[in-house]
Amino acid sequence: MAKTHVSFTLNGKAVDVFVEPRELLIHVLREQLQQTGAHIGCETSHCGACTVDLNGESVKSCTFLAVQAQAAEVMTVEGLAPTGDLHPLQQAFMDEHGLQCGFCTPGMLMRSYRFLQENNNPTEEEIRWGMSGNLCRCTGYQNIIKAIKKAADDINASSTTSAE
Ligand code: FES
Ligand code: FES
Repeated sequence: MAKTHVSFTLNGKAVDVFVEPRELLIHVLREQLQQTGAHIGCETSHCGACTVDLNGESVKSCTFLAVQAQAAEVMTVEGLAPTGDLHPLQQAFMDEHGLQCGFCTPGMLMRSYRFLQENNNPTEEEIRWGMSGNLCRCTGYQNIIKAIKKAADDINASSTTSAE
């Protein structure tokens, strides 16, 4: 099948790929661009393991065509810690034991990253709604919620300190 040239920004760097029109973004990210952080779980938009950030929105890359990423800004979990220092969300997931097997974690991190951009001081209920498109089969939701709340508090505290 003829391939289409697609260019987009991935974790701050320009990338070019050739894809079949039917190819899904998750497969291109993992197989052509070696960004294996986003996981393939259900492949039906239910679990959120494949969540990436695309033009400022959370996108389930298992049901998003790679050609739709033309000219987009895409961020995967690999882009959360570009300098090697953990993002506050990653640190909070560690501190609050917000993961067990870790399979859902990249998607949880990417969805919570966008969620905190949308609401930087959420209540527990708002976090639960905001994260309702991401499933954890280890059922560790309680600590995931705690981790997101802690990350929000840490980010807000550091921006208050740096503004002083
Ligand atoms: S693998 Fe994409 S939502 Fe489950
Ligand atoms: S930590 Fe295992 S699926 Fe969420």
